[in-house]
Amino acid sequence: MDLIIADTPSQLGEDAAALITDQVRRQPNTVLGLATGSSPLPVYEHLGRHRGTDFSSVTCFALDEYVGVAAEHPQSYRRFIADRIAGPLGIAPGRVHVPAGDAQDLDAACAAFEESIAEAGGVDLQILGIGRNGHLAFNEPGSAFSSRTRPVRLTEDTRRVNARFFDSLGHVPTHAVTQGLATIMEARRLLLVAQGADKAAALVQALEGPVTEAFPASIIQRHPHATVIADSAAAALL
Ligand code: GLP
Repeated sequence: MDLIIADTPSQLGEDAAALITDQVRRQPNTVLGLATGSSPLPVYEHLGRHRGTDFSSVTCFALDEYVGVAAEHPQSYRRFIADRIAGPLGIAPGRVHVPAGDAQDLDAACAAFEESIAEAGGVDLQILGIGRNGHLAFNEPGSAFSSRTRPVRLTEDTRRVNARFFDSLGHVPTHAVTQGLATIMEARRLLLVAQGADKAAALVQALEGPVTEAFPASIIQRHPHATVIADSAAAALL
């Protein structure tokens, strides 16, 4: 595993954006896995400044989506990706796949999502954040390493942490659909970004602790091509 420690969140964004644009320049039809949340924001901001890179042939797959949040809701991950990533980078909506959290039949929607990843030839580069409780996407502690895209219940801790994006805790969804840990591990390369002191304990446990389903992010120790970029606050305990 490669570890890069950046002085600031902005530097983290620049380093990660450089890695991603390098991949897209080498392979214009890259299949890119997208993480939402606040950690990758500097990455997407810096990507938007790499004007010389053509993202129009890139296909994207999101890690997860809330259940019961309309696609056009400001906090839906579909909207986040359209506004913050696909729009600024010039990736057409038809090339952006997000698990359908508003589907009538969630299991069927998750199976269809897995099929779309396979049809696209798998994910070349998967961007990841990390939850304070060690979740990857919405794979909460206890998620099976063999898990695939599926509906899940969010922990109360995750709901509380994400409440800052909603009007109140009561508005935070109780469920989500998420790529599974096995789905994520099939990506040919992982790029995990972590910033801020409140991620330091999770990061050290993920990278140096036991590999266990009790701490899902620890699975990245098993990936043959993983890069971690952390700012100095998140890397403080490494
Ligand atoms: C969210 C997302 C994850 C994200 C994580 C950390 O709930 N589902 O994909 O990595 O929690 O979020 P943040 O980067 O905002 O701390």
